[in-house]
Amino acid sequence: MNSQKRFNNETTRFLLQKIGHRNVFLLFATVFVMSLLDLAGIAIIFPSLQVVTQPDAAEKILAVIGVTSTALLELTHRQLSVALGVGLALFYMVKTFFQTALTKTQSRLLARFTADLTNDIVSHVLNARYSTFQETPVSQIAGTANSNTVHASLVLNALMQIGNESLLLIFLLFGFFIFQPFLALGALVLSLLTGYFLYVTVIRRSSKLGTAQNHIENIRYRLLFSIAYAIRDIKIMGLDGLFSARNNRVSHDYAELAWRYNLNNALPRLLTELFALLAIVAASLAIVFFASSFDKAGPLLGVAAVAALRVAPALGRIFSAVNTFKFSRPFVNRLIDLRTSLANAAVSRQDDNLSFNHSIELKNVGFRYGDTQILNNVCIELKRGESIGIVGSSGAGKTTLLDLFTGLQQTTEGRFLCDGVIFDPFTSRSMQKFIGYVPQTITLLDDTIAFNVSFEETPDYERVMRVLKIANLENFIASLPDGIETQVGENGIKLSGGQRQRIGIARALYRNPKILVFDEATSSLDTLTEAELTLEIEKLRSQTSVVIVAHRLSTVIACDRIYVLSDGKIESSGTHSELLLTSETYKKLYASQQGMEHDKEIS
Ligand SMILES: Nc1ncnc2c1ncn2[C@@H]1O[C@H](COP(=O)(O)OP(=O)(O)OP(=O)(O)O)[C@@H](O)[C@H]1O
Ligand SMILES: [Mg+2]
Repeated sequence: MNSQKRFNNETTRFLLQKIGHRNVFLLFATVFVMSLLDLAGIAIIFPSLQVVTQPDAAEKILAVIGVTSTALLELTHRQLSVALGVGLALFYMVKTFFQTALTKTQSRLLARFTADLTNDIVSHVLNARYSTFQETPVSQIAGTANSNTVHASLVLNALMQIGNESLLLIFLLFGFFIFQPFLALGALVLSLLTGYFLYVTVIRRSSKLGTAQNHIENIRYRLLFSIAYAIRDIKIMGLDGLFSARNNRVSHDYAELAWRYNLNNALPRLLTELFALLAIVAASLAIVFFASSFDKAGPLLGVAAVAALRVAPALGRIFSAVNTFKFSRPFVNRLIDLRTSLANAAVSRQDDNLSFNHSIELKNVGFRYGDTQILNNVCIELKRGESIGIVGSSGAGKTTLLDLFTGLQQTTEGRFLCDGVIFDPFTSRSMQKFIGYVPQTITLLDDTIAFNVSFEETPDYERVMRVLKIANLENFIASLPDGIETQVGENGIKLSGGQRQRIGIARALYRNPKILVFDEATSSLDTLTEAELTLEIEKLRSQTSVVIVAHRLSTVIACDRIYVLSDGKIESSGTHSELLLTSETYKKLYASQQGMEHDKEIS
């Protein structure tokens, strides 16, 4: 209970701190003024009707509120009724105007709060280290940023409602206490009992419902993302029925929780009103049976009924808001957890102003995933203007090595030197600027070719054309009616694998990198296209150093130095011809590929 309470406070504190003191006050004030206006709206109807229906009521009411103006008393009943009618109409118009303005302020505040929270999460996401995304699926992050933030504003709104209605209730009860202390005490006890009853029967369960709903929402997002990622496989292998059934199950579970929550939300109001009415009936019966005269008890009962009818809805709203708070809180807590873990994984990049004039060296670099050593004692040197190749079997650690070199992952052992100065690619801004990276699997955005190359809203078209030419896409672009403005579809679905790779290459070149890093970046190209591309890249060598990871040895044969990676260690290094003499692994690799080439030629 204690930890739950602490967590309640934590949720509340987080929300209040996020929206800011000023806005909390503004929000509370709007909610409060709205209820006051509502209360005033109800309060003036009864006396007004009395005045219209009973000619002598005006005098009595004016006397009660202490108005003795003779001018008012001299008005005829008809005049008074008309004045009252006009007055009421005006009051309601002003009230509606104010309430509209307040609703606008309130909705805007809450909507902006949700948007700010989403922004906050997204910027934390962008700032978090890459390894975070290996632990937390993107679907979960998207779900949390999208729907949990909405729950945050629901919780905040619920808190405002609870505070505001409680305040009004305290006023009501206090006023009531002055006139009718016993009745007020009775009402208080009854309210507390109702609250306890509702908490035990309904509200307490909402927390579990919220947790379950959040869980199912995660599953829903994951499923939708999986369908998007695997749509080709689903189609080819006819898995649509299977995915549809899975989706059905998830949607069904979701619906189950949704109606339960809606019922839980309605019950507090319904039950509170029922209890209030039952209390009035019980009180009436008690009066009929026990009171000495109805004349005395009658007005008392009237007051009790009015009080109950005012108090009951307010109580109902409080309980319903508590219910929303309980239900939505797990969503907010998940949001807080995600935000905390992202914030803990934040990477701060430093403007280290490195200049790569001579060389970058990796000295005894190592890397572990938990207890598994992936790379060990790796020593590599890249001189300016050089090209180096890295070869090795699948799973040897080539991509991981590039991840360290490009600063995507942080090394667990060893160090990096740039022109003899120690630096860490993981935190270096300069290194980000140096590198043009073409990954093993290119990700294209659902946008134009120009945007996919430049990542800029207004790209330098000449430069885009130049890099597309180097990437051997000139003829292809010329054949497109929309040229570089052609939309490539989701993840470049409208392009071939090789075209996608070449757009990836153009993207890396667009930034005029000092170091071009290729991870199997030409594996989807035919040998002729690859050879042409290699030739183009060769021409850039005066400004650009190149690191190439490849399975196909022909891709790295011309490199100044080739490193053979085996089981996370550099087994040997040298030029192609040197390695053929010194490295058994390389020799075997070469022999097997020669054989394949030979077979290809024959067939
Ligand atoms: N997030 C991770 N957690 C744990 N192990 C991982 C993770 N990512 C990769 N590995 C492991 O690290 C090893 C090296 O992977 P890496 O991707 O660097 O291989 P590679 O040499 O690039 O292989 P390929 O030629 O198939 O692309 C593999 O055994 C892989 O299973
Ligand atoms: Mg790889």
